[in-house]
Amino acid sequence: MIPILLKITGFLSYKQTVEVDFTSFDLACISGSNGAGKSSLLDAITWVLFGQARKRDDSLINSHPEVKAAEVIFTFSYEDQTYRIQRTLPRGKSTLLEFQIWQQAEPAGDGTWRSLSEHTVKDTQARILHVLRLDYETFINAAFFLQGKADQFAQQPAGKRKEILGNILGLELWEIYRERTNNRRKGVERDLASREGQIQEIERELSEEPERKKWLAELECRLAELAASRKLQESNLEKLKQQAASFEQQQFLVNTLEAGLLRANQNRGDLSKHLEDRKNEQDRYKKLLENQGQVEKDYSKWQNLRNDLAAWEVVADKFRGHDKDRQLLLGKLGNEQARLEQEMKALLAEQEKIKDQKASLPSMEKEFEYTRAALDVAETRLAVRNEKNEQIMLAREKQVELRSENERLKLEMKELKGRVDELAATEGANCPLCGQPLNLEDRQKLIDQLNGQGAELAARYHSNKDRQVEINPMVEKMEQELSGLVAIDKERLSYTTLLTQLTERIGSVQKTLKAWDEQGAGRLEDVSQLLEKESYLPAVRDELSDLDKRLADLGYDAVAHDAVKQAELSGRVSENDYHSLAGARAAIKPLQEEVDNLKKQIKKLDADLEAQQREMQKASDILEQSEKMSPDIDGAERALFDIQEKENRRNQDVGAARQKVAVLKDLRARKKTLNREREEMAGLIGRLKTLERAFGKDGIPALLIEQALPEIESRANELLDRLSDGAMSVRFATQSAYKDKKKDHLKETLDILISDGAGVRDYDLFSGGEAFRVNFAIRLALSQVLSHRKGARLQTLVIDEGFGSQDAQGRQRLIEAINAVRGDFAKVLVITHLDELKDAFQTRIEVTKTNVGSLVSVI
Ligand SMILES: Nc1ncnc2c1ncn2[C@@H]1O[C@H](COP(=O)(O)OP(=O)(O)OP(=O)(O)O)[C@@H](O)[C@H]1O
Ligand SMILES: [Mg+2]
Repeated sequence: MIPILLKITGFLSYKQTVEVDFTSFDLACISGSNGAGKSSLLDAITWVLFGQARKRDDSLINSHPEVKAAEVIFTFSYEDQTYRIQRTLPRGKSTLLEFQIWQQAEPAGDGTWRSLSEHTVKDTQARILHVLRLDYETFINAAFFLQGKADQFAQQPAGKRKEILGNILGLELWEIYRERTNNRRKGVERDLASREGQIQEIERELSEEPERKKWLAELECRLAELAASRKLQESNLEKLKQQAASFEQQQFLVNTLEAGLLRANQNRGDLSKHLEDRKNEQDRYKKLLENQGQVEKDYSKWQNLRNDLAAWEVVADKFRGHDKDRQLLLGKLGNEQARLEQEMKALLAEQEKIKDQKASLPSMEKEFEYTRAALDVAETRLAVRNEKNEQIMLAREKQVELRSENERLKLEMKELKGRVDELAATEGANCPLCGQPLNLEDRQKLIDQLNGQGAELAARYHSNKDRQVEINPMVEKMEQELSGLVAIDKERLSYTTLLTQLTERIGSVQKTLKAWDEQGAGRLEDVSQLLEKESYLPAVRDELSDLDKRLADLGYDAVAHDAVKQAELSGRVSENDYHSLAGARAAIKPLQEEVDNLKKQIKKLDADLEAQQREMQKASDILEQSEKMSPDIDGAERALFDIQEKENRRNQDVGAARQKVAVLKDLRARKKTLNREREEMAGLIGRLKTLERAFGKDGIPALLIEQALPEIESRANELLDRLSDGAMSVRFATQSAYKDKKKDHLKETLDILISDGAGVRDYDLFSGGEAFRVNFAIRLALSQVLSHRKGARLQTLVIDEGFGSQDAQGRQRLIEAINAVRGDFAKVLVITHLDELKDAFQTRIEVTKTNVGSLVSVI
């Protein structure tokens, strides 16, 4: 990992955004006073990569209240790729993480950042670790000498140390191989188990062979039985169908015979009817011929009538001209008669009505009298009521008057009493009238006088009271009497109305009667005379009699003409009879022949009918017989269907059984293949197990560590030699004896054995400065080894405050040592607050603390 650009905002002592461009130098010294923000730069790198720094929480956010979030963006190259990670921690919220890779479009063209971020921060972090193939621990144990953690590696327990060394050497890859091999082996084992299961299953099936064959034979036998019984049933059904066909033919025969019989019967009916008609015709002719004399007589009589009628018609023609006028006159008379009859009818109806009204008149007059009397009584009672009302009103007024007078009297009496009391109580009072002083006597006199007045008032008061007492019952009595007269107004009104109505009705009846007497009765008499004597329209009558006289002169007798006309009409039938007579004479003989012929035909037909009837009976009997034994074709078909169904099922069973037998051959072949596969797999599993062991901790990784250790050891000693001027050296021991002496093999370990001129001593027994040199030498050796490995992962060396423990000579040696290894690293950063070291490096990055946070400048 080679840093390119670091951008820090709101992180630890950095408030404003600060950028550090690493591209312009290979070796630099980061200087600045205590607390300036030097170590914070390294924290920024470990935090952005691993989410881990001196802390992992909100306390990493710059404490200035304006700062809302800490953010670090780090661009670096790694294994020939350029990556960028941006980590943001907003205050009180969860971290945001973005991981990107630079993609160059063409060798010379522009590129773009492609995101490698996953859905969650956790997954993105895992992806970063996967790409780096380095965890935080390895990172700070190898190339990153964090302040105060220089002895990180030496202080780890031996096992952990070995693990870190393994990681530095990239041995975790072997663990991945081991896991993959393990997974592969497990997969093969699963396949093997499945093959074995299949083989067992096949063997189980193969063991069923005799049974399956036996079952197949049995099923085939049953199928053959079913086929035989199906054939039998089929031939049965065929026979039944033939029977049914002959039954149908018989049925057809019966139907045909029945139809023939019906037709013959109808034929016979027709012939009988025809015979009947002929016979009737014959009878009619016979009767006609029997009456031959009469018919001829009637016919000649009719001939005479026709001659008479012709003579009358001649006269009538002349007469008809006059008759028209006559009819006109007769019409007028008829109309007048009808009109008079109508009038007569109306007059009679009116006469009836008049009679009724006349009869009702006395009762109406009587009712009028009664009502008149009732009205008189009501009016008398009304006068009484009004008088009583007047009296009550007066009495009430009197009462009011008495009451108000008494009120007044009461006040006056009270006043008088007051004055008397006043006079009696005071001596030497003045006269209330003249205001002069009163003596005793005068006073008494005055009192008496006043008392006298008071007595008068009291007498009046009591008399008023008595009057009031008298008046009350009087009023009550009168009010009671009045209550009986309340409805009198209505009563009177109803009588008055009735009287008016009666007067009107009587007046109207009398008027009607008078009018009838004066006009109607006379007219009725006249009309009935006119009708009775037929004396109406005398002028018309005269005209008619004149006309009739003229007609009589013509000699035309309309009555006689009508009589001849009538007789001719009724005699016309004789003409028909007369002509029929001739037809009858001609027809009677052929008719007789036809009748005889028909009788013969009927006789023959009857014989035929009888024969057909017999034939029909015979055929019906046969049909009935065969109906009784009619075949059950449906039942037979059902039975056949059932057998076919069974046969089909059985066929399927046989097919399945055959399949089960046939499959055994395939199974045998399959078993052979499976067995071969099983053997191959067992071999493969053995080989994989060997591989797993080789990839395991004690396999290749152990071997690699063993191989790498001499190189690390020699490089460390080279450095240590330089740092201690040949006084100190280290050795790594990978195996040590167990404390338990019974164990004969050695314990796997990674012990660091340090020695100086005085021999091997425990790490803790060396001085701080000496211990630092040892740590520095070992870790630098580790970093070098790491940077030399293929796919160099850590090409950056960072040393934060390693010089504090060293004396001037030690510092000088350190600088020399750093310069000696700088060729192994792409970037070397040395952090120090010591001024005298600043100038030892060509490039200096100055960190200062300001009120806008830490600032960085490359000098
Ligand atoms: N959240 C924070 N906000 C602001 N300042 C902080 C925050 N956390 C730590 N600091 C301060 O940031 C400053 C920088 O610390 P850093 O460890 O980077 O200093 P340094 O330059 O390495 O100093 P030294 O030479 O002592 O090692 C210190 O003063 C420290 O107290
Ligand atoms: Mg520091």
